[in-house]
Amino acid sequence: MSEANSISYYEQVQEASAYLRSRLGTFKPRVGMVLGSGLGDAAEGVTEPVFIPYADIPHFPQSTVQGHSGRIVAGLMGGSPVLVMQGRVHFYEGYSPQQVTFPLRVLGAMGIGAVVLTNAAGAISEEYKLGDLVMLTDHINMMGWNPVVGPNEPRFAFRRGAGLRFFDMSEPYSPWIRGLAKDIAATEGFDLREGIYMAVSGPSFETPAEIRAFRTLGATLVGMSTVPETIVARHMGMEVLAISCVTNQAAGLSPTPLSHEEVFKTGQLVRSRLRRLLEQLAPGITALLEANL
Ligand code: HPA
Repeated sequence: MSEANSISYYEQVQEASAYLRSRLGTFKPRVGMVLGSGLGDAAEGVTEPVFIPYADIPHFPQSTVQGHSGRIVAGLMGGSPVLVMQGRVHFYEGYSPQQVTFPLRVLGAMGIGAVVLTNAAGAISEEYKLGDLVMLTDHINMMGWNPVVGPNEPRFAFRRGAGLRFFDMSEPYSPWIRGLAKDIAATEGFDLREGIYMAVSGPSFETPAEIRAFRTLGATLVGMSTVPETIVARHMGMEVLAISCVTNQAAGLSPTPLSHEEVFKTGQLVRSRLRRLLEQLAPGITALLEANL
């Protein structure tokens, strides 16, 4: 006899996406977004929104951090259909790697072809200013774990050729979406910087020696999210763009100690620029996805 609560991870993903489909009817977005700490307001640009609290979605993990509101906003952004996740869960909250990346699996099962991941990050490079938006060109996974450890689940191949045990990560962040983002920033008249993100598990901030080590390793930013999501998105064959908002200088680079309040406040400063960028990315990415397939 099988028990209702012993369904597989894959079946949990299917139940969550079936629930979302039942709520969304014929609405079929191709683009997903994840809004990180203090950046949730960027979803205000969504018109005709439908709000779906994470608590309503079967098996969906709940965020416990201030600044993460924990719901999906489905609607039109820049005229194109999007699924926006306002808030994410982190490993440091006590969630397993599978739980942290569950929402991305659900986006994949919903037919999302590209995701825009946003986060708050500390600046390791002294070239960045607070409030800068930085597009990731690459990352270093210093979390000490990888979300696809365990038996490979080939049914997560939502795109042809994906779902492999060993998969390529030589271009984690989509060059064509990065090109689009650069063009939008140029038209909008703001600087979109580029950088390499060091992912750490947190929740303690880094020590000055760690930040010096990370700089030596080639990182220009540090944060506690995004990389697990990028890895599972690439496992499923999704395109990824990731944008960090520089909320603070990393440890040892500023005379003041780090706090979550500082990270949260700076996030709010950049919201209008981020919102304009996302509003143009949604139709641009949708058009590119349609042209490529
Ligand atoms: N370190 C790690 N994660 C962060 C930081 C930081 O300085 N700022 C925002 N998220």
